[in-house]
Parts: sequence; C-alpha cells; structure tokens
Amino acid sequence: MSGIVGYIGGQNAVPILLDTLKRLEYRGYDSTGIAVIQNSALVSRKKVGNIEILKESLRNEPFGGNIGIGHTRWATHGKPTEENAHPHIAGKIAIVHNGIVENYLALKESLLKDGRSFVSETDTEVIAHLIDKYFDPSASSGTGSGLETAVQKAISEISGTYALCVISPSDPDKIVIARNENPIVIGLGRGEFFIASDATAILSYVKDVLFLDDGEVAVIKKEGVQVYDKSSRPAAKNIRRLGLNPIMMEKGGYRHFILKEIFEQPRAIWDTIRGRVSGGDIVFEDFRLEGSEAGRIKKIFITGCGTSWHAGLIGKFMIEGLSRIPVDVDISSELRYRNPIIDSETLLIAISESGETVDTIAALREAKKRGAKTVAICNTVESSLSRESDGKIDIHAGPEISVASTKTFTASLSALYILAVYLAKQRGAIGKSEEAERVKGIIALTGKIEDAMGLEEEIEGLSKIFYEKRGFLYLGRGINYPAALEGAMKMKELAYIYAEGYSGGEMKHGPIALIDENTPVIILAPQNSLYEKSLIDIEEVKARNGVVIVFATEGDTEVAKRARHVLYIPHVPELLTPILYSIPLQFLAYYVALRRGLNVDRPRNLAKSVTVE
Ligand code: F6R
Repeated sequence: MSGIVGYIGGQNAVPILLDTLKRLEYRGYDSTGIAVIQNSALVSRKKVGNIEILKESLRNEPFGGNIGIGHTRWATHGKPTEENAHPHIAGKIAIVHNGIVENYLALKESLLKDGRSFVSETDTEVIAHLIDKYFDPSASSGTGSGLETAVQKAISEISGTYALCVISPSDPDKIVIARNENPIVIGLGRGEFFIASDATAILSYVKDVLFLDDGEVAVIKKEGVQVYDKSSRPAAKNIRRLGLNPIMMEKGGYRHFILKEIFEQPRAIWDTIRGRVSGGDIVFEDFRLEGSEAGRIKKIFITGCGTSWHAGLIGKFMIEGLSRIPVDVDISSELRYRNPIIDSETLLIAISESGETVDTIAALREAKKRGAKTVAICNTVESSLSRESDGKIDIHAGPEISVASTKTFTASLSALYILAVYLAKQRGAIGKSEEAERVKGIIALTGKIEDAMGLEEEIEGLSKIFYEKRGFLYLGRGINYPAALEGAMKMKELAYIYAEGYSGGEMKHGPIALIDENTPVIILAPQNSLYEKSLIDIEEVKARNGVVIVFATEGDTEVAKRARHVLYIPHVPELLTPILYSIPLQFLAYYVALRRGLNVDRPRNLAKSVTVE
C-alpha cells in the first residue's frame, strides 16, 4: 500500500510532489512526507494525517529543490507518527518505500550491532540504513554508480516487496528507483521525469511512461533514464502511451467522487461491453479461446479480494448458469495458501480494480505455476495483474478515485457476464440466437440503470430514518446473495455501521436472533426463480418486528402488501439483477455515511490499492 512519488527536472519539485501525492491519497493517508535536495543538503518535512496538513506546514515554512521524493502512507509497521512517516533518512540518503520487508527484524538486529541507531519502528528505515551502509559517495564522481550500486546491494539482502525511490546529495543528480511486486512508473517529460506508484498520478504532466518490472532498478537523471535488470545489465524497455484523460480524474460537478462514480455506471458498463459485442457476437481482443480450447476447460477458478471477490461470487452464477462449467470462487489470500486443485485444464479468472492487489497477483502466479490458463478482469490498463496474465479483459470503467468500489464492481460484473456468454457459445452450450439475445439484454441494461438511478432521492429520504441504527442485515438469495454481501460491505466501509450480508434461506440458522424493531433488514426480492422464497424471508423478518426495506421488481404488487418500505427496480434477466440491485445499495451506504458526517471518498483505515498481505 502507500503511494510514492518523485521528480527530477528544471522545476521546483515541491508543488509537483504535493500534487502527485494528492492523487495517490487513495493508497493511504495516515501520514505524508517529502524530501528534496536543496543547496546540496537533504531537507524533509513529514506530517501525520493527509496531504493538506503537509501542504499547510510547507506554506508556513517553505523549501524547494529540483530533485525530490514523496510518500503518502498506509501504516503497516508502526503507528501513524511523524517518526514512522516517510521519507526515512539514514546518513546522506533519503528513501520512500511502498511494500513490506519481511526480514526486517533480522536485518535491523545486525545493523544495530554495527552501531546504527533507528528512530522509527518501520521496516523501511532498515532499507535506508542498508543503502547508506553500502553507499560509497566517492564512487559517484568516477563512475557515477555510487547510489545505484548501494541500492542494488541493499535490495539483494531484502526479502519482501518494494517499490522505492532514493536520493542523496552525495550523488546529487539522480533518483534511483527499484521494484519488486509493488508498482512504479516513470513519466517521461522533456528534461524532466515524474515517478509515481500509479500512472494516474502523473497524467497531467506526461503521456509517455515506462513501467518497471520486478527486480529492475532505474537511474533517472535530467538527461535520461537507464533501467537495469536483475543482473545489473542495461534493460531495453518499451515506452507506453497513456490513454487516460486528466479530466476523468476530476469530480465533474459532483459533491464527491463516489457519487460521480455511482452515476458513471451506465457509461462504465457501456464502455466495458461496446466493441466486444459487435453484431451479436462476442469478441475479446486480448483473450481468445478457440472452440477446442474452450472444450478442454474442466474447471474455472475465480479469485479476487473484497468487492472483486463479491463480483467473482456473482460470476460463478453467470458462468455455471450459461456454460455449465463448474466454478470455484476463492478469496485470493486463501487461494494462494490452500493447495488448490488447479491444473492445465483449469481457467483462472482474476478480478481486480487496481490490478495491483498483492494477494490476487500471488493467486494468479500460483495458478500459472500449476499450469492453468489465466485471464485478468481489470480496470487498470498495464497493471501488474494484466501484464502477468495470459489474457486480459480491461473493464474501461475509467479511474475510480473513491476508495470504495462502485462502478468497477458493476463493470466487472458486465465483463463477467459477456465472458460467461462467450464461454457458453464456444463450448456449444448456447446457440447463436441465445448469444444474440443475451447481448441484447446487457445492452438494454445500461438504460435500466439510468432508471434505477432515479431512486436516489427516495433513498436519501430513507437514510434520514436509518442513519443512527447500530446494525443492518442484508438478505438476498441465489445470484443476489453476493449482492447482499456487497451491499453490507458498502455500509460497513462508508458508514462504519456493522452490517451483515446473508443468504435469505440461511437467516433462520442464526442471524434471525439479531432481528428486533431496531434492525433494518434490506431484502433483495426481484421477480426471478427465487421470488416466492424471498416473500417468505420478508414474512419471517416481519414476524420478529424487524423493519423491512425491500428492493423489488417494478409492477410487483405482492411485496407492497407485506412491507412498509418498497423500492422498485426495472425488470431485467435474472443473471443481470445483481448489477441493477447493487446501485440503490450504493446510494444507501453513501447517504447514511453522509448523514453521519463521514468522509465518503476516504473512509478511515482503508486504502484503494492493497499492495501488502
Ligand atoms: C471495497 C473495495 C475493496 C477492493 C479490494 C480489492 O469497496 O474497494 O474491497 O475491492 O481491496 O481491490 P482490487 O479490486 O483493486 O483488487
């Protein structure tokens, strides 16, 4: 987690570091800090809290320089204090780091024996001392290799993950960066270079970028960039052109990013499917399975974390329902450690908004090691996950700035849906006419989402009644059970209210004990194959005095007889219902959180991209 940035060029680095850090705040905001080389000395400032606090301090006591690094932290080792904030300085070097050094305690012990002293509790300070230990500034004048040699020696002793940027006034004309399992990108300007954990942070400065791969080290000078591979040999790199537009990163008149992103869902879904559904056929540019290859797949595993895992649970219904291929869904942090039965007849689908979630990447690697074919459903073009998978299905939802996922959830579901139709067609489980009909269904969905958006006002009204409740229960059945899980998670992460998602049928086996007149129970009851069962769930909750809020199909008259609060959603085919029913649940969590005065775009303790275990 955490975000790191760097700048080298002709401008003052400080405003650029602050601006790019601001754009990385979604990666954590426990503390921030920057360091620059000013008049041949290291100057740094660190603050607990978000970037605004650091900015304020720099307004009061400014400094500047043409080379600098910065960090916004999501705490792993050590509390969010100024001592633990980055950059960390040892001797004449300053470093910012994203990742975890697993052997830091052993390294620290040996550095302490060498007489070094530590000011923080972090694993990063160990890297700072290691680099300083190996740093021979006199080598810089002769070969210009002082700092990078020290970095290479230091990282050879580290086990764990890192993306790091290092500067030193004793080798003053460069930034040295390195990567292992945590992303880092270099933006290529004219006589200036921008470094960041994520390309979206440097979008307004550059169009062309270089992504570092695992084990690589780069030396960045005003004159140019040299990348070295694991064996310290110069590496040839491809320059990539970014397709994103800086305007997409702004709030566009909405009060919060999350609200804008909720409203962007029809567009995000359309961008995900258009171009892939031409003339009733489904075509994936970067993922193809010929009929015989599709026929060889005996099993599918879907993996992801959090909201992406919920998407996977729904994907299981879509894929099994249409193609009849058995599907297992695993949380990535479980899959990677559970000795799964995966072989060359398995297809692994990894879902990730960021494409940088460390557990999801590890699960993908595990599956590849066991011979599976892999495909990534991902929102971040050129992410580590999509670069490592055999095939990729980019979801084109556009940058999601709010920490809580909304549009990328429903866009992932749309990608899973067309993938399910594609697999079914390739295996002969459905014919051309069903394929065309399914495609028509998802195209029509985008318009129905616009209708579901119309519930916003009604839901805002409901939030007034329920925002002080201590807990919520969310019930769904079949394909809408995972939608209930996702709705409950949105309530937890945005409003900090305990919320439990449950299968309607399972409720009476335990959670029913939670129900009383103070427990709002959200029930997803579309008119589909399990509709009658959902009516029973409503009755069972009412019999225990629970307050029922039902999301039902437009035109349903039965539900209104049973529940006080009913909100109507347009009819769609059963496999598409979770996409539509998730939208009002996003609004509900948003408005409840807003009434509770919370930061809806940056909930506490969270980070958008979880690059640590
Ligand atoms: C919740 C949320 C998280 C992410 C999870 C995985 O709103 O956003 O649960 O879904 O951290 O992240 P990605 O999808 O980037 O792998």
